[in-house]
Amino acid sequence: MSRLVVVANRVPDPRERGATAGGLAVALKDALARRDAMWFGWSGATAQETGATPNEVQAGRTCYATLDLGEADYRHYYRGFSNDALWPVLHYRLGIARFAREDWIGYRRVNAAFAAALAPMLRPDDTIWVHDFHLFLLAGELRALGCRQRIGFFLHVPFPPRQVFLGLPNADAVLHAMAAPDVIGVQTEDDAENLRGALIGTGEPEAATRVGAFPIGMDAAGFASLAARRFRTREVAQLRESLAGRALAIGVDRLDYTKGLPQRIAGFGKLLQRFPRHRGKVTFLQVAAISRGDVATYRALRRELDEAVGRINGQYAEPDWGPIRYITRAVARPTLAGYMRLARIGLVTPLRDGMNLVAKEFVAAQDPEDPGVLVLSRFAGAAVELDGALLVNPLDPDDIAEALDAALTMPAEERLARWRGMDTAVRAGSAAIWARRFLAALEDAPLPDAGTAGGDGAAPPIGITPPRPALRAAQPRAHRARRAS
Ligand code: G6P
Repeated sequence: MSRLVVVANRVPDPRERGATAGGLAVALKDALARRDAMWFGWSGATAQETGATPNEVQAGRTCYATLDLGEADYRHYYRGFSNDALWPVLHYRLGIARFAREDWIGYRRVNAAFAAALAPMLRPDDTIWVHDFHLFLLAGELRALGCRQRIGFFLHVPFPPRQVFLGLPNADAVLHAMAAPDVIGVQTEDDAENLRGALIGTGEPEAATRVGAFPIGMDAAGFASLAARRFRTREVAQLRESLAGRALAIGVDRLDYTKGLPQRIAGFGKLLQRFPRHRGKVTFLQVAAISRGDVATYRALRRELDEAVGRINGQYAEPDWGPIRYITRAVARPTLAGYMRLARIGLVTPLRDGMNLVAKEFVAAQDPEDPGVLVLSRFAGAAVELDGALLVNPLDPDDIAEALDAALTMPAEERLARWRGMDTAVRAGSAAIWARRFLAALEDAPLPDAGTAGGDGAAPPIGITPPRPALRAAQPRAHRARRAS
């Protein structure tokens, strides 16, 4: 089996085990265990200049190769173009996106630097799998350097309709670069349709045929047994005792404005206002681990949430009951699994989300004899599969309040019926199946035409907006028309 080369902005620390590992590391565990692999990306550290030679650490069959980011590159590539521009645009939030030409230049510079550092490490028969929006330009850069290996790209976050994406300055250049990989994966059919439309509209109709939906899953059986085990631990017992018989609603997110946290908290407030019978009867535990704390919009969100939680607690708390418990520290995944099993309601209400595995984890964590209810945003990718959830418009606090009321009063029979369907759906997929499906599509793709790699495809000099043909020349031209899935 050929070596798998994973390229992602984040590279897991090889010493970290399950409890603290990031989402992608958990998702790729099975794929990495099966073959020799390299995981290439940012070290998470900054230095004066972006490194040219990766630091390599071998752990088992995987080599972790990382580069430090120069301080200016961190600002422009990571914080700037990736998080201030691409992240909001991809989540349909043009209005809060911030654009700066220097950020685009930095983004191009880092994608080119990653490609330049990676290319000499590649073996001819490697299979390369690039992840997420930080690295939209990487495949094209690798092609420009003469790399002829199969390259797959997977976008973990949503892809918006073309007219939204075109709000991004340099959107056309990004789309031409996105046409370079042999398989282009997204989470849902809606994302796939949006991306195909954007590629076609930008003059890349053939690339549109290489776009496919590969919804990511999680290890439901493993998470179910983890939840059952952790349910019996002291920390879950402490939480249970502290609830004093009250129902628990739980939310688990990164502290991110795409997660709909202010609206969710307002929805919980509406529940207490409009359905007073639940006052003193339900406690909402929101874990919102601080994320991207040096991006201004995230700092503003944190202040907004502090205030919103304080307001509702001040208004409704009793000496022996506080409606909302709010934690901004990260809580370990196994502990969360136990908490989720204890919860009567899982509140997963992102304004937009590629998939949202928390929704699937909540389902997997439930006690099959007495499952809780999932209140889920219709704008999370997971809503396609989890139609047994109470689907809500996450922008509408009244809708959330009504779903919470329905969940708190739902008869056990209905809870069970809804949960069973969702549990079947969650168990039908897994991260391992997702990775296998994507890699099978990639390994099945025709090899890029030897004649077109490199040659006139040299990347345009960094620092100017690339003329369109330069990026296009960096792409393989010999694809059979095919659909990835
Ligand atoms: C999302 C993105 C990932 C990213 C993660 C954490 O899940 O899809 O690519 O790594 O958020 O964000 P951060 O900026 O800390 O890497």
